[in-house]
Order: sequence, then C-alpha cells, then structure tokens
Amino acid sequence: MAVVRSVVTFILILFNPINVFTNETIETDLQMPFKFNTVLISILVRNKEHTLPYFLTYLERLDYPKDRIALLFFSDHNIDRSIEVLKKWITVNIKNYHSIESVLDEESTRIPGEEGVAHWPRERYSHIMDLREEAISLARHKWADYIWVLDADVFITNPNTLHKLMLKRKIITAPMLRSDGLYSNFWCGMTPEFYYRRTEEYSQILGRKKKGCFSVPMVHSAVLIDLRAVMSDDLTYNPENLHEYSGPHDDIITFARSANISGVNMFVCNDETYGYVMVPMEKDDRLNYDLLQLKNLKLEVLVESGPLEYNVLLQEYVSIPEEDLIPVDETFMINLLRRPDRRKRMEASFAELRLDVTIVNAVDGQ
Ligand SMILES: *[C@@H]1O[C@H](CO)[C@@H](O)[C@H](O)[C@H]1NC(C)=O
Ligand SMILES: *[C@@H]1O[C@H](CO)[C@@H](O)[C@H](O)[C@H]1NC(C)=O
Repeated sequence: MAVVRSVVTFILILFNPINVFTNETIETDLQMPFKFNTVLISILVRNKEHTLPYFLTYLERLDYPKDRIALLFFSDHNIDRSIEVLKKWITVNIKNYHSIESVLDEESTRIPGEEGVAHWPRERYSHIMDLREEAISLARHKWADYIWVLDADVFITNPNTLHKLMLKRKIITAPMLRSDGLYSNFWCGMTPEFYYRRTEEYSQILGRKKKGCFSVPMVHSAVLIDLRAVMSDDLTYNPENLHEYSGPHDDIITFARSANISGVNMFVCNDETYGYVMVPMEKDDRLNYDLLQLKNLKLEVLVESGPLEYNVLLQEYVSIPEEDLIPVDETFMINLLRRPDRRKRMEASFAELRLDVTIVNAVDGQ
C-alpha cells in the first residue's frame, strides 16, 4: 500500500503543483509545452513498387516532428522493385527521422503454398502475424508512446492525421480511408465466427452521413495504438497469445479479438478526410490488376481532392498506364477559360488515362 501510495504521490507531484496528501505547494520546473509523443510506424511492404512513390511521399509530408518518429520497414517475397524503392527513399530520409530500421529480404519471392501474388495460404497469414507481432514488441521494448501499424497501399493525404488521431485520446484509433468503391479499413459488424457482417451503419460512416469517431468491431490498415495505456499490454497479432482463440487464422481478426478480450474499443474516425486505401486483390489477380486499381483510385482522388502526388525522387517508379485505345478519331473537351480548376482536373485525368484530347475554349453564352 505504501508503495502504491508513494507512486501515486509521485505522479501527482509530477503533474500537479499541489500535493493532495499534504496540501503543500510543490516547487516545479515543469513547463508546458511538452515534447511530442514518440511513435513507431511499422510498415509491411510486399510488391508495392507502384504504390510506394505515393505512400512514402505522404508519409514524408505528415505534419509531425520526424525526430519523434521511428520507422520500421519489413519487406520480403517481392517480384518487383519494392526493396529498391525503399532503399532509395531510406538513404535520403534516414537523417530526418529519429531512426529508420529495415528488415529487407531480397532473395525470397514466394511463400510456400502460394499460387499467386494475391493468394493467402495459412503460411502467409502466419508470416504477417509474426512481422506485426515483432513490430509491436519492438515498439513496447523501445518504450514508444504509440505504434502506428500502417500498410503500404494507404495514402494519408491529410498531413495532420497522426496528430489529430492522438488528440482523440483513444487506445486504438484508425482514420477512415476511402477507396474507389465500398471498401474501407473498418467493419461495422462481425459474425459470431468473427467474419465480416454487413450493416446499415457501415455506409452511413463511409458516406460521412454521420461524422466523428465510432466504436466498431474492426479497424485495419492504419491502426494507431496508445502503448502507454495499461490495457494495451495484451493486444496481439499472434493467436497463440490468446486464451482459447477459435477464430480464423488471420492477423487483423486476431488483433480485433485481442482488443475485445482486453476490453479495448476500436475507433474509426471520419470527422475529416484523412486518406485513401487500395481495394485488396482477389485470389487469382495478377500484379498488373493492382496497377489498374491504382489508376481507378487515382481518378477517384483527383475528383475529390486533386491528384495524388509523389516526390520526384521516386519518379522512375511511378507507373505510366498503358494507352487507352478508344476507337474514335478524335476526342475533344470543351471548357470555359474561367474554370481553370476543372480544366486542370480533366487534364490530369487525361494524362492518367493516356488520352490524347483536343481542348476547345468554350464561349460563355451570357
Ligand atoms: C486539503 O485542503 C482541503 C481544502 O482546503 C481540505 O478539505 C483537506 O482536508 C486538506 N487535506 C489535507 C490532507 O490536509
Ligand atoms: C466485445 O464483443 C462483444 C460481442 O460482439 C461486444 O458486445 C462488446 O461490446 C465488445 N467489447 C469491446 C470492448 O469492444
């Protein structure tokens, strides 16, 4: 009891100049503001050469002190130049961050049992679980205040995202990410077997008919965890750490179960536009299908918030889409000169679609 009491007193002394046990005023040198929270951002990269130029550019643009950010990259089993992109970016950026650690395996290309780049046999889930668990253990070991578990096909276009999420003061928070369809990085319902369940509320949150932070049974792809919370200690991606886990062999479902068992709510926030996420590929899709999905997403983002941007450092990895062969002789666009915003947006769309379009200045009828 004495120990507990002295610890409590110590905490109160730290944060309150009045000691409540004795009512004495305590001299303190503590002055606001404090330094920013430390955060470890863990990023798993596999066959993401096409998304990395955008992903890394928005990571770099986060409005958060880089000396309070440690980055941890894992990349293996690639059949594209993902590792080359990472190395290039890391070399230039390493001096800006508190630290950048990377575990890059350039030899491996395929996980046993895999039939294609979008096939997820059990071994692949196990591998992802191991990497995510390693990341969260490392963050705890480093005494990081937060870990942000971020996927490399996420584009955090809002530079205030990290800071804003911390201000929500939740243990687990994710920014709601839009795609070019109904896909997002949260679920609103879960079946008793822990699979996805469709709900009414989902589309209301996705469509931002209601705004705020909502407690949901699943968030993934950009999950911020406050490791200072004692309740976060049992959060895990490894089903072996869960007592009597009977759900699917899946990293995000295991994590969601561990949150539920720990009594920790998961929140998804849509109060602002935070960013975008790619729709995952289906089992038999090839990698060039993902390029098509990226093109679709880029067009979607263009309409909503302007073109997705990339740092020129990574220009050579930005994929130029194949020319669209439309069986017409010529394509025209008519546009009023006083609407340069629309013209710019359409020009960016044509460039993305590799459409050769003749632009005609419109005449205002008035
Ligand atoms: C501290 O001050 C408050 C209000 O003046 C009083 O009610 C309380 O009993 C005091 N506590 C101690 C330990 O003296
Ligand atoms: C855990 O799951 C149950 C059943 O879905 C739910 O009622 C409960 O609110 C969840 N608890 C937390 C903390 O999310």
